[in-house]
Amino acid sequence: MSNPKNVLVTGGAGFVGSHAVEYYAERGANVTALDNLSRVETLEKADETRNTAAYNWEYIEENYPEVALLEADIRDQQRLESVVEGHDAIVHTAGQVAVTASLTDPRTDFEVNAEGTFNVLEAARKADSDPAVVLASTNKVYGDNVNEIPVREEGSRYWYDDPEYDRGIPETLSIDDCEHTPYGVSKLAADLYVQDYAERGEVDAAAFRMSCIYGTRQFGNEDQGWVAHFAISTLRDEPLTIFGDGKQVRDVLYVKDLIRAYDAFLSDPEGKPAVYNIGGGEENTTSLLEFLDLLEEKTGSRPDLSFDEWREGDQKVYVSDISRAREELDWEPQVEFAAGIERFVDWYDDR
Ligand SMILES: NC(=O)c1ccc[n+]([C@@H]2O[C@H](COP(=O)([O-])OP(=O)(O)OC[C@H]3O[C@@H](n4cnc5c(N)ncnc54)[C@H](O)[C@@H]3O)[C@@H](O)[C@H]2O)c1
Repeated sequence: MSNPKNVLVTGGAGFVGSHAVEYYAERGANVTALDNLSRVETLEKADETRNTAAYNWEYIEENYPEVALLEADIRDQQRLESVVEGHDAIVHTAGQVAVTASLTDPRTDFEVNAEGTFNVLEAARKADSDPAVVLASTNKVYGDNVNEIPVREEGSRYWYDDPEYDRGIPETLSIDDCEHTPYGVSKLAADLYVQDYAERGEVDAAAFRMSCIYGTRQFGNEDQGWVAHFAISTLRDEPLTIFGDGKQVRDVLYVKDLIRAYDAFLSDPEGKPAVYNIGGGEENTTSLLEFLDLLEEKTGSRPDLSFDEWREGDQKVYVSDISRAREELDWEPQVEFAAGIERFVDWYDDR
């Protein structure tokens, strides 16, 4: 077991990536943050005050000047190979992140998520420094198989109506014979490549199928990052649309806890499984309506709400069974939801 000393973070200007950069920079590792800053453009079109990548890039530049900031694209295999050499760990978070964009431009989604991850693995396989790799995968790889599990209504939330899933969704849930989105498919392809390279012993690699990750420096919108989107709308006194009845439930994980799970793998990858469901687990869940109550408690405000039709494929309940991560990585979520939200609100007010 050894702590990574030379760490490459792809998508280093993103929400999750910038937290990985900060985590390793704080521990004295040499960190390279790679990003093509495409998120800057996407979000600028939507609302320039919600510009994650530009904000996080500048945040790293100002607070961690020793971090190497590299504007590059994971679709550029040659460039990637020269960057990867010399690193002993790669946190691969760069990606096309929105289901909606994958529907309108599935080719870009495929090239960035599937081929981009393939490029990262190939670069890792060829590098003399033998980097271990973690992939920011997603629970969307399970497609709508999740929706086959019966749910019941309990007051302000839904819950699984099958005791087999009382602890949430395990890694063994089927990933096929169901409906996906292009985003779900491109991430699943990436996830399977990671498993294949790991199982054939080419690269020490693992896919972390992430549920709902939240935390400071996240600028969510209707398409992605709903916790931040709800919190920011509340803090800015902006109206909010809920798709469905608001009783849908998610497990929520503070971003720093996620990075600790990545690090547990990267520090000691030998013989570890190559897939983990990762989120807050059954002890850290909330429905959308319950979250609005929590926000009101913390901020004293409540946004004007309107309700719209359920979105296609939306899950009434998604909760990760995190037993495998607990056992194999000796890992446990540490930040309770209320405390994490307080950190978010404080950061947003002080920005
Ligand atoms: N945030 C969540 O709750 C969540 C949940 C499940 C999975 N994920 C996955 O985690 C990863 C990170 O998500 P995030 O929330 O930090 O999103 P984000 O948009 O904040 O970060 C992604 C970063 O990747 C960069 N990027 C995109 N295409 C690139 C390319 N071709 N080359 C180099 N950089 C590129 C973007 O500019 C951006 O800075 C994504 O792969 C996403 O699919 C996130």
